[in-house]
Amino acid sequence: MKASELLLTRQSSPRLTTPAPTTEQLDFILNAAARVPDHGGLTPWEFIIAQDDGLTRLAEIFVSAAKKSQADEALIEKAEKMPFRAPLVITVVAKTQTHSKVPIIEQHIAAGCATMAMQQAVFSLGLGAVWRSGDFAFDRNVHQDLGLHDNDQIVGFLYIGTPTVTAPIKSLKEGRQFARFL
Ligand SMILES: Cc1cc2nc3c(=O)[nH]c(=O)nc-3n(C[C@H](O)[C@H](O)[C@H](O)COP(=O)(O)O)c2cc1C
Repeated sequence: MKASELLLTRQSSPRLTTPAPTTEQLDFILNAAARVPDHGGLTPWEFIIAQDDGLTRLAEIFVSAAKKSQADEALIEKAEKMPFRAPLVITVVAKTQTHSKVPIIEQHIAAGCATMAMQQAVFSLGLGAVWRSGDFAFDRNVHQDLGLHDNDQIVGFLYIGTPTVTAPIKSLKEGRQFARFL
């Protein structure tokens, strides 16, 4: 796929199934993530990969967090199914540090760029992905069970797999409507 086509047609695929990316494809996806702009070279990110048993572990973490927050039965049931909406889920964590030149927000942005780069890499492979967050991204119990530290923040769960349907490419939003010249 040409870069221009990727940039102008990328879109999310909310409905995903097997096959997941191969090992080589996963390496390509992770390498694309590590290629993003990174002020100070802090590499302020971590990618926690869940597939197979890992999806079950992620589901257990979501269910445990839902129970601890007194969620109702329906939400607990939903939490248990969430990770299985794709054969591969990458939890993207911004791992931030106090730095004299790189504010925390820039480290969050870099982790967000990494998420976007992974989605684009997935798309370029003819696979699909959707970036989700939701309450669990901000839930301290989820953070603890994933082994995160106080300064860490989940910027998203990137669900990756093969789209169940070939969705038509959505029409382009003209970028100029959001631009102004000084
Ligand atoms: C930080 C972030 C968090 C998001 N969280 C969710 C989410 O929890 N659920 C959801 O349906 N979409 C979420 N989205 C939006 C989707 O990833 C997607 O971009 C949106 O549905 C528009 O589709 P498109 O990517 O095909 O334009 C999130 C996007 C971003 C950037």
